[in-house]
Amino acid sequence: MRVLGIETSCDETGVAIVDTSPWEAGEPAGKGLLGQALYSQIAMHVDYGGVVPELASRDHIKRVIPLINQTLKESKSTLEEIDAIAYTQGPGLAGALLVGASVAKGLALALNKPVLGIHHLEGHLLSPLLANNANIQFPFVALLVSGGHTQLMEVTGVGEYAILGETLDDAAGEAFDKTAKLLGLSYPGGPAVSALAKQGTSGTYQFPRPMKHSGDLDFSFAGLKTSVLTQVKKISQAGTLSDQDKAHVARGFVDAIVEVLVSKSISALKQSGMKTLVVAGGVGANEQLREALEIACQKEGVAVHYPPLHLCTDNGAMIAFAGAMRLKKNPQLASKDWGFDVRPRWPLDQLS
Ligand code: KG4
Ligand code: ZN
Repeated sequence: MRVLGIETSCDETGVAIVDTSPWEAGEPAGKGLLGQALYSQIAMHVDYGGVVPELASRDHIKRVIPLINQTLKESKSTLEEIDAIAYTQGPGLAGALLVGASVAKGLALALNKPVLGIHHLEGHLLSPLLANNANIQFPFVALLVSGGHTQLMEVTGVGEYAILGETLDDAAGEAFDKTAKLLGLSYPGGPAVSALAKQGTSGTYQFPRPMKHSGDLDFSFAGLKTSVLTQVKKISQAGTLSDQDKAHVARGFVDAIVEVLVSKSISALKQSGMKTLVVAGGVGANEQLREALEIACQKEGVAVHYPPLHLCTDNGAMIAFAGAMRLKKNPQLASKDWGFDVRPRWPLDQLS
């Protein structure tokens, strides 16, 4: 089965074609990734310090067809050889989602192929299996850390997700992006804060570990951002905020957020009795988080898996792959229903 995946939920236009035959033959699923193309709008949004929804939708319209053609060429596939089309149905920016949904439904109608709406977070959640499916067995605990979401999930199979805990306010990626803004770094802030933190010394500035001891698996990062703001103001009032000061602040912030994410992930593993942790979403690319999780998981005797770096942030491969996995499990899920409804807000545990 060949599935074309289309992702347009935010500021990346992603397209990919996945073939299920290698993994049906017991080989790594990654071998079935026949081709993929990605266009990031980051440069367009950078002057605004964040994603401008209307600009995002317009740019998806411009990019999506050329990216589909590029992916078909790379995959040495024709449209007729595609068996099903998967697109991101939500959550995300409504206008941006509508672009991917209309292209997917239009193509499916023209080609008379089935089409399936995919939950963006399910795409992230299953993406580590795309690279490493031989080593990852259900059930597992998933730490989903993106720009819009921070959740711990219990994953018992494809389409079987229960939320163990989630952020009560800002997502981890949002905290990185807001901290970056406070430090005068450009959008998206995660990679910039992470790089700057390497030049700083732990403990120079201490920040709270929000909800570390709350006894549940929820998170809260809005207060952390306020503490960073207060610290930055304090340093600025006492003199000038030097590049070295900024690096120390970045280090303190990264230490705090990583400590909370690691501590809650370990608690989730202990509570559920599961032995595997899968990390997904943009913040899953963070070096300091990966290092700390590696140490903590080794100590607890549990395995930790991440997608390769290029699959951590938004991409079409994760949508094509999630579509293929869902259809392999239940071919009835794909429909020839040409009406489209996107779901800008869509809790993952409400996936049918
Ligand atoms: O998963 P993603 O590409 O998009 C959403 O679905 O939100 O995640 C984007 C988020 C941004 O907030 C970005 O700053 C963060 O992931 N991010 C990082 C890193 N790379 C991306 N955060 C920390 N460290 C990184 N290396
Ligand atoms: Zn995402």
